[in-house]
Amino acid sequence: MKLDIIAGARPNFMKIAPIIEELQKVKDSIQYRLIHTGQHYDKKMSGSFFEELGIPDPDINLEVGSGTQAEQTARIMERYEALLLKDMADYCLVVGDVTSTMACSIAAKKLGVNVIHVEGGIRSNDITMPEEINRMVTDSITDIFYTTSEVANDNLRQLGHDESKIRYVGNTMIDTLLKNRPRFKQPDVFKELNLKEKGYFVMTLHRPANVDQEQKLKSLIDEIVKGAKGMPLVFPVHPRTAKILQQIGIEADNLHMIGPLGYLEFNYLVSHAFAVVTDSGGITEETTVMKVPCMTLRDNTERPETITVGTNELVGTNPKNVAPYMEKLHKGDWKTGDIPHLWDGKTAQRIVADLLKLEV
Ligand code: UD1
Repeated sequence: MKLDIIAGARPNFMKIAPIIEELQKVKDSIQYRLIHTGQHYDKKMSGSFFEELGIPDPDINLEVGSGTQAEQTARIMERYEALLLKDMADYCLVVGDVTSTMACSIAAKKLGVNVIHVEGGIRSNDITMPEEINRMVTDSITDIFYTTSEVANDNLRQLGHDESKIRYVGNTMIDTLLKNRPRFKQPDVFKELNLKEKGYFVMTLHRPANVDQEQKLKSLIDEIVKGAKGMPLVFPVHPRTAKILQQIGIEADNLHMIGPLGYLEFNYLVSHAFAVVTDSGGITEETTVMKVPCMTLRDNTERPETITVGTNELVGTNPKNVAPYMEKLHKGDWKTGDIPHLWDGKTAQRIVADLLKLEV
């Protein structure tokens, strides 16, 4: 079987790492090539993850770089289609919900290549999110879904997908987390800021809904700074957010803005934090497994099990909502949570065992 593995942006890399590791054990049966679209290209957003997670260099880099959503989609489709026309694959495996996921699945399917979607079926039901559009389009042309939750399975059934296409395998992001936990690395900032175990917050923000309007971003950060009651807030800033923050110029004694961190350093910080404030999806899964309280600054989530089972709470995007949740945290009134079914570190093994059974 000839299989293409697609990765394009930061949250893809930890999802493909364990799949590649398992594929290396079955090279005789499955010939794969790793394709990096180049959607994320900075060392801090891409290269460092390959090094730290031991992912081999991509076989092909489509080098699409920055652009609007449509520009990136178009460039990825054009370049991936050209590659397939030169050297066809049997299956194209995409992960997650980024622009690269959708663009490659469309290019593949139009050439008759079967699409496999790892993390298929999740939905925020918020069509204003580019990721939700990517999920809907990708799933509509997916042949095999490897899913992370029962909710995802139900979503796919409701959409009329045949049961035989839906395979509940767990979460490859958690495979990576569990494997690398013993290697987490204290970042320099820990000593520089004299951080104390469970004595600081980690915060990340990058969603257009939170960061694209200056006033909204400023009000959110002001509320978080106030709610932290002097506890240090470590804020590794995403490039998208950095551009806007430069214009606003926010400052506070307990707010420490730093550049994006590598995987091992970021998760060291999270695992020792008092709590996390984020608008990411993947981080809510990692905090659930590490049992760190997590406040999500979104009105919805495509990962409801992080709330029903895990340590996550949906705070919303209204800055006024922040204070009551901060109070709850300081009072110690936060659930410790549990770990969702099959988030056990063996998901990539299950995926590759299943891939070996696929017909070519
Ligand atoms: C993308 C994903 C989002 C994911 C996020 C994590 C889509 C639609 N969104 O959003 O789901 O949670 O990545 O990081 O695919 N930039 C750099 N250096 C880089 C990469 C990007 O400076 O290495 C800049 C870009 O030029 C652009 C901005 O950051 O100005 C945003 O990058 P982009 O790839 O458009 O989407 P993200 O907001 O990162």
